[in-house]
Amino acid sequence: MPARHRRTARSKLSVHAAGLKDLDALVHQRQAMWKALGVRNNELHEKGDRVYKRWARARLRNHQFMAWVVKSDDGRMAGGGCVWLQPVQPRPHRTSMVQPYLLSMYTEPDFRRRGVASMVVKEAIKWCRKNKYERLMLHASEMGRRVYSQLGFKRTWEMRLDLK
Ligand SMILES: CC(C)(COP(=O)(O)OP(=O)(O)OC[C@H]1O[C@@H](n2cnc3c(N)ncnc32)[C@H](O)[C@@H]1OP(=O)(O)O)[C@@H](O)C(=O)NCCC(=O)NCCS
Repeated sequence: MPARHRRTARSKLSVHAAGLKDLDALVHQRQAMWKALGVRNNELHEKGDRVYKRWARARLRNHQFMAWVVKSDDGRMAGGGCVWLQPVQPRPHRTSMVQPYLLSMYTEPDFRRRGVASMVVKEAIKWCRKNKYERLMLHASEMGRRVYSQLGFKRTWEMRLDLK
């Protein structure tokens, strides 16, 4: 897939479809996202990273998982994000039993507010449209809310009951 470019005063950024060769970068981004959200226990991360890596590898292989990374022209990784095709239950009008879900959105601190996350979300939306999915879901962190709302995402009425 050809890379898309966005020129900034500092360096040129480009977004790329990611694959198995990028798995370590995707795991790093996942961990860094959780750390930014306040999960600081390294033991939990070590365990969680191993599980996530296995989980993401299997789904990249069977095409239930898409990922994009943004790189700067000096070769640095600026950020990335993923779409998982999440199994969902049948309901009226649902034509597919999977629902695209955006996750693991992360931009390295040096590259924030330069459109990195927006580039990834736009690629994810484009991919979903191209593959005829009708909706893209996500759970937004406080930092992420404006990124998504600027691109048209709406709040929903999901509820939950914490059982422990
Ligand atoms: C959230 C995050 C991915 C945003 O990445 P980014 O590459 O800086 O985002 P963008 O540059 O595409 O931002 C697009 C717009 O969203 C808004 N925005 C982005 N970060 C924001 C912040 N921290 N506070 C308020 N608005 C913000 C701005 O309106 C911004 O446009 P502007 O810079 O022209 O004003 C990044 O801050 C991050 O990695 N945070 C830690 C992990 C996290 O929260 N991930 C999201 C999980 S849902």
